[in-house]
Amino acid sequence: MNAIDSALNADREHGTFVYVVAFIAALNGLLFGFDIGVISGALLYINETFTLTPFLEGVVTSSMLIGAMIGAAIGGRLSDRYGRRRVTLGGAVVFFVGSFGMALAPTLEWLIAWRVIEGVAVGVASMVGPLLIAEMAPPDIRGALGFLQQLMITLGILLAYITNYLFAPEFLGIIGWRWMLLFGAAPAAVLAAGTYFLPETPRWLIEKGRTEEARNVLSRIRAKADVNDELDEIREISEIESEGGLSELLEPWVRPALIVGVGLAIIQQFAGINTILYYAPTILTNVGFGDIASLVGTVGIGIVNVLLTLVALLLVDRVGRRPLLLVGTGGMAVMLGILGLGFFLPGLSGIVGYVTLGSMFLYVGFFAISLGPVFWLMISEIYPLHIRGTAEGTASVVNWGANFTVALTFLPLVDRIGEGYSFWILGGFCVLSFVFIYTRVPETMDRSLEEIEDDLRSSTVVGADTDPSD
Ligand code: GLC
Repeated sequence: MNAIDSALNADREHGTFVYVVAFIAALNGLLFGFDIGVISGALLYINETFTLTPFLEGVVTSSMLIGAMIGAAIGGRLSDRYGRRRVTLGGAVVFFVGSFGMALAPTLEWLIAWRVIEGVAVGVASMVGPLLIAEMAPPDIRGALGFLQQLMITLGILLAYITNYLFAPEFLGIIGWRWMLLFGAAPAAVLAAGTYFLPETPRWLIEKGRTEEARNVLSRIRAKADVNDELDEIREISEIESEGGLSELLEPWVRPALIVGVGLAIIQQFAGINTILYYAPTILTNVGFGDIASLVGTVGIGIVNVLLTLVALLLVDRVGRRPLLLVGTGGMAVMLGILGLGFFLPGLSGIVGYVTLGSMFLYVGFFAISLGPVFWLMISEIYPLHIRGTAEGTASVVNWGANFTVALTFLPLVDRIGEGYSFWILGGFCVLSFVFIYTRVPETMDRSLEEIEDDLRSSTVVGADTDPSD
């Protein structure tokens, strides 16, 4: 049964409330994407107000990534302690206030400070969204619902591109970049309002011993009165465990999952997606496109990202996570190879330009059906319940750290060895990633979070050839 069939059946089986809940949770992703996407266009105009050196441009861009690392770190703890719902609300408030803070920043220092603060909310959003969804979704559509977060991220990026375009000229007497950044307050307000309808997750309530509330929430999101079986399953796991922190993360039986989560976090960024997303117009201009054509090409890349994420959504609960990851990283490696080659063939500029554009489209497409969504989905699936918040936060922190590292080192690398070799290095990294995924990453399709945890305890889950028939 594919995601669409199961979603249609699920309408009857699970009711619609779970979709409402998943949608609200995934708005976290919209804000995350918006903040990632908005800065590239805004930078052009910030430059006019504050006169930035290339170094300061880097600082303005990556300050958010530092904040995001902090946000992912504390978001993990906070959501285990105070609950996923309250942390979402807190994040939305910071987003809202931060948008005003950035838009009204009187000096560059204030702008950078507010970007760090806004980044904290982005970091929190990046882990609490998938966590909420994973803990609410029924196993048969968990993958599809989990992808909503990444779909929203890609939509957020696209929304940011559009905002950049709309507010590019001066508008109502205020400089364009201030309007671009301020616009982020709108989705933040929607998210804050949405948390009113968002219940706390049954799994978290059980961890806190609030069983009756958990029963109520579960029967609402499952649209049925008798939820005893599922409740028992969650409670059983919960009883074995006590609340876990960082030290439990290093216990031997958790380690394989930790390696998978952290490994995928690094792979997702070192495969180079954000270098393409940030620098696409520059790359396209370098291979011979005009300014407008480059911008149109970039918007096209944003659209491919959204559409192929949708395709992945249709496939994830049908073919599974591993095949998507393997096809995706394999395809990305090939596309980076072709992309790099383009920079060694300057003589054929017309054809090379189109080959470059084509390979960038396909590269983003391969990312969108694999590493993009599957990473965020899997880090919400592979960890045991009692440390899920902390563990997911850790993978998230590593992801933002890797994002920061790539953002800071890619341009200097290009400066030293040129685009061609730089893309080949990223391609080589994709090949290594393929091997890592093949040998280490387990399939989680169609299994309840509790089953995945049971397997982990008998330490058979990790590895391609394990027999999950226990
Ligand atoms: C993933 C990545 C993020 C990237 C986005 C692009 O969410 O974590 O860094 O910008 O995909 O779609």
